[in-house]
Amino acid sequence: MARITASVYTSHVPAIGAALDLGKTQEPYWQPLFKGYEFSKQWMKDNQPDVIFLVYNDHATAFSLEMIPTFAIGTAAEFTPADEGWGPRPVPKVIGHPELASHIAQSVIQDDFDLTIVNKMDVDHGLTVPLSLMCGQPDAWPCPVIPFAVNVVQYPVPSGNRCYNLGKAIRKAIESYDEPLKVQIWGTGGMSHQLQGPRAGLINREFDNHFLDKLIADPAAQAAVPHIDYVREAGSEGIELVMWLIARGAMADVNGGPKPKLVHRFYHVPASNTAVGHLILENQA
Ligand code: DHB
Ligand code: FE
Repeated sequence: MARITASVYTSHVPAIGAALDLGKTQEPYWQPLFKGYEFSKQWMKDNQPDVIFLVYNDHATAFSLEMIPTFAIGTAAEFTPADEGWGPRPVPKVIGHPELASHIAQSVIQDDFDLTIVNKMDVDHGLTVPLSLMCGQPDAWPCPVIPFAVNVVQYPVPSGNRCYNLGKAIRKAIESYDEPLKVQIWGTGGMSHQLQGPRAGLINREFDNHFLDKLIADPAAQAAVPHIDYVREAGSEGIELVMWLIARGAMADVNGGPKPKLVHRFYHVPASNTAVGHLILENQA
C-alpha cells in the first residue's frame, strides 16, 4: 500500500522564485532565507518520495473570479508553470500522477468532501515556489506531483476544521492505494502577511510562532481557530495558513499513530511582504 512518509510546510512568496531565477540567492537580503532551506534540500535528496501531494492556493491564475472551486484536485498527466504577468518561471513542467489522483478523488468524494476534478490547469507561484525551495533548480522535478488547490482568495474560504478533516480523508485515500508508494504531503502558503489596504505589510511573529507550536503539538486545537482570528492576527493573506492543516491532518498521530518527528523548523522575516515559516515532520515507522 502507499504510505505518507512525511509532511512539509512552507511559505510560497513569489519574490523567492524571482530571487532564485535571477541568481540573487547570495545577496544579503536573501542569503539568510535560503540558508534556512539548505537542510531541507539535503533532506529531500535523502528522503526522496515517489509522489508529492501538494496543497497550495491558486492566485486567480488558473481560476479567475469567474469560477472558484473550494477544493480542486489536479488529475492531469502534466501541469504547465503559469505566466503570472512576467512570463512563466523557467522551471520544469510539473508531472502529475493521474492514477493516484483519481483514486484520491474517488475516496475523498465518497467520504463527503466535494472536490473539483481538474484535468487541465496551469500552476502558479503557490505551487512552483515551494518546489523550488525544497528541490533547488533541477532540470526535472524529482517525482510526480499532485496539485491540490484550495480557495483562500475569495470569501467564503474553508475553515481550519474542514481542512483538518479533509487531511484525514486524504490520508485514508492515499493509504488505501494499492501500490507501495512513498508519498509526502505538503501544506503551503502563509505565514502572516497582508498585501492590501491600510494594514498592508502586517507581520505577526508571535502569532506565527504560536501557530507553528500548535501545528506540531496540538493540531486539533489549532484547527478550531476560526478564520476571523487568522485575518485579524495574521493579515488578510495569513489565511493561507489553513492549508497547512490539510497536510497536518494527514499525519499518522491524528489517526491514533505515533507522534511525528520534527526534523526541521525555520522562521524568517521578511521575504517581500511575508513572514516565512517552514517545518518538516516525519511519520515514525
Ligand atoms: C506576496 C506573498 C504572497 O503569498 C503572494 O501570493 C503574493 C505576494 C508577497 O509577500 O509579496
Ligand atoms: Fe500567496
